[in-house]
Amino acid sequence: MAAGKKSGSRPDAARSATAGISGRADSRPASKVRVGLVGATGYTGMELARLLAAHPFMFLTRAVSRREEGRALADLHPFLRGTAAGELPVSALDPEELARACDLVFLAVPHGAAMSLAADLLRRGLRVLDLSADFRLRDKAVYERWYATEHTEPELSAEAVYGLPELHGAELVGARLTANPGCYPTGAILGLYPALKNGIAGNSPPIIDAKSGVSGAGREAKVGSLFSEVSDNFKAYGLGTHRHTPEIEQELSRIAGRPLTVSFSPHLLPVNRGILSTIYVDLKSPDIPLRDIRALYAEAYADRAFVRLLPEGALPDLRSVRGSMYCDIGLVKDERTGRLIIVTCIDNMCRGASGQAVACANLMCGLPPAAGLGLIPLVP
Ligand SMILES: NC(=O)c1ccc[n+]([C@@H]2O[C@H](COP(=O)([O-])OP(=O)(O)OC[C@H]3O[C@@H](n4cnc5c(N)ncnc54)[C@H](OP(=O)(O)O)[C@@H]3O)[C@@H](O)[C@H]2O)c1
Repeated sequence: MAAGKKSGSRPDAARSATAGISGRADSRPASKVRVGLVGATGYTGMELARLLAAHPFMFLTRAVSRREEGRALADLHPFLRGTAAGELPVSALDPEELARACDLVFLAVPHGAAMSLAADLLRRGLRVLDLSADFRLRDKAVYERWYATEHTEPELSAEAVYGLPELHGAELVGARLTANPGCYPTGAILGLYPALKNGIAGNSPPIIDAKSGVSGAGREAKVGSLFSEVSDNFKAYGLGTHRHTPEIEQELSRIAGRPLTVSFSPHLLPVNRGILSTIYVDLKSPDIPLRDIRALYAEAYADRAFVRLLPEGALPDLRSVRGSMYCDIGLVKDERTGRLIIVTCIDNMCRGASGQAVACANLMCGLPPAAGLGLIPLVP
């Protein structure tokens, strides 16, 4: 089962969502899934708190920070004032306590910090949704080379489901451990999936020219993320070396059924949220009409509520997906070069991280896949 249009749960979900926003801890229905959040002070933690505060079937019972123990979550994140989630006192990291209070835990922490914690929580019977890169790469040596960190739990990487609901929905149902995809890989893989699955791409490595907003770098104070460094500027970084490269190649190789490399060029955009990827693919048959390519994309995403294939001639933009789960896709055929140009837009924090994590957690817990995610983009 994948995030589909026909979950059949919309009226119930809408009713419960309204109750969840104003409800208090003691008014929670017994059927709700109890969830914990480690990394509550970071950007993806904030976004998870936003989504969970209004989730019809999940209830935030623990929010963990190593630095802010004892404060109410709404004191850290004032946008949560007036919600049950906002009243939650922030806790220290205590796996035993998480096991007592939660059914599932989101790990919104840096890579390297998640692997042993996830193993501990799984041993205690919890489900774990990891937003870091720790369980995304199947090959221990590849992880250790790209992340320069020893991987101490390689058997869990073999078990973890790669959390892209459109591609792995069936495996996510009932899973114990999900490796939530990286933000850049989400836009790149969704953009290339129909072309590779249907074998219309030639053998040259696709070129993924991607631009991300600054929240993609996390909330930790860094000179490179300062307003005066980022605003009124635009630059490339990590060319040929970005850590999302092996993840993109791993997943695209699985789709294509052959080893595949990519040229991945990330850029830093002076906006808070969003990733726009322009992807260039040589076509195996340069004469294939755009109409036929569009039909393959329409078929691949026919019942996928969160992927929108735009009408011919329309191209995605960041603000049309901001704060939502949508991945918008525009297709152009460059008749002169015989290339397909795919443009995708996602919100890196919602679709590229926390919203996608909630979609996966819904599936892991047997909930309607789109529960809590009926978000219309925020414009202007
Ligand atoms: N930002 C994005 O768009 C995005 C997208 C996809 C995936 N991700 C991934 O999601 C994870 C979180 O990203 P982020 O942007 O939210 O990062 P962030 O803003 O830097 O926040 C990370 C949080 O993790 C906590 N933390 C740090 N080290 C820890 C440790 N050793 N043990 C326990 N908690 C620790 C910190 O909380 P305290 O210091 O308060 O404890 C911090 O608030 C990362 O692995 C990132 O790669 C991010």
